[in-house]
Amino acid sequence: MERKGFSKENGKMLCDSVPVEDLVREYGTPLYIYSGGLFEENLLRFKEAFKELSPLICYSVKSNSCGALLQLVKQNGLGADIVSGGELYRALRVGIPADSIVFAGVGKTRSEIEEALEAGVYLFNVESIPEAQEISEAAGKLGKTARIAIRVNPDVKADTHKHITTGTKENKFGIDLEVAEKYFQQINELPHLELIGVHCHIGSQITDVAPYVNAMKRVVRFVNMLREEGIHIKVLNLGGGYGVAYHPEENPLDLITLGKELKKILEGLDCQIIMEPGRFISAPAGILATRVIYVKEGIKKTFVIIDGAVSEFIRPVLYDGYHEVEPIQDKQGRKNKVVDVVGPICESGDFFAKDRELQEVQSGEYLAVRDTGAYGFAMASNYNSRPFVSEVVVYDRNHYLVRQKNTYADLVKDEILVSEWQ
Ligand SMILES: Cc1ncc(COP(=O)(O)O)c(C=O)c1O
Repeated sequence: MERKGFSKENGKMLCDSVPVEDLVREYGTPLYIYSGGLFEENLLRFKEAFKELSPLICYSVKSNSCGALLQLVKQNGLGADIVSGGELYRALRVGIPADSIVFAGVGKTRSEIEEALEAGVYLFNVESIPEAQEISEAAGKLGKTARIAIRVNPDVKADTHKHITTGTKENKFGIDLEVAEKYFQQINELPHLELIGVHCHIGSQITDVAPYVNAMKRVVRFVNMLREEGIHIKVLNLGGGYGVAYHPEENPLDLITLGKELKKILEGLDCQIIMEPGRFISAPAGILATRVIYVKEGIKKTFVIIDGAVSEFIRPVLYDGYHEVEPIQDKQGRKNKVVDVVGPICESGDFFAKDRELQEVQSGEYLAVRDTGAYGFAMASNYNSRPFVSEVVVYDRNHYLVRQKNTYADLVKDEILVSEWQ
């Protein structure tokens, strides 16, 4: 059977069954390479683990919004979790049905709300009273009724990086559970809204079942209380956050156990369940392939300087993210050395690995930064005037260029020079 994802055979890295070296020679570096096979397999594993809950699974577009991967989401019958008009556009573009799209985010603008209403999205995940008022007004003007869920904050601490914890009182997201009832009552009285759901997303990269269980127990109590108050909640959106193993000693979230635990908690609640996985689907399905430019010997350290940079992949500096870095072709018999793997950008935050043991590589060799399929290209920038890089998807032994790298001309194409200043 064909192996999906990235593996090594006789020291040679393969993506599904295609040698990564063939891809970098054909498309150049830096290059994002996605295994369409693994991306799809992860979607199916997710579906399987939670099948007893019959959830509407809405892939979180923010984790990786590559059009070709969204096509796989659509082909597999999943919906989309979006946070902007741009993501709505991307989801609709590949044919994801509007009635399986849920729209989250603390700062939806009037025009984004109108676009989503016109498209007929299934649900707005609402985060404040002013936002609910805005949606109500917009729906009224368009002669529509907007279905909404209100995002609550169950004050559960997920053991993850502080920049991706979202379910505590200190975060800007959601409405604190202890005051939420009042908010639900107020929002429920607004016209042109149908308040049908409770939304909750406690953070990202959660590898432990317990925070989900604790959050859900609180949320279920809350749903029951609302029902007693006459607000009939019929949708429960559990959000995303399902964690992956970036480090060899880390374990991914145990989806099967989570599925069983959730089944126990949600049994008999009579709610449609929505789940919004992002990273779990996309992170392991991608690498950033790079080329070593120089190996620089410092007094205290050796720096392996690669052609990829923080402009392509920001997780290491933004979230202290650990990512495996390895040659795409191992060489037998050579020693390992402790090095920093860094990019060419003028920032000391431009690194991929620090004090990492790596084979003694030389300039011209190719390195893969692993598990970069989520929050990778999606967070890329043009800092230091670096053009966006290409993206390739491997699927069924074929490979497809799904984004052409930008040129210098692309970098400036939207800029307007002042004609008087010639
Ligand atoms: C509301 C919401 N849903 C889903 C996600 C996806 O999270 P993850 O990629 O960790 O699954 C996020 C991420 O920030 C989010 O804010």
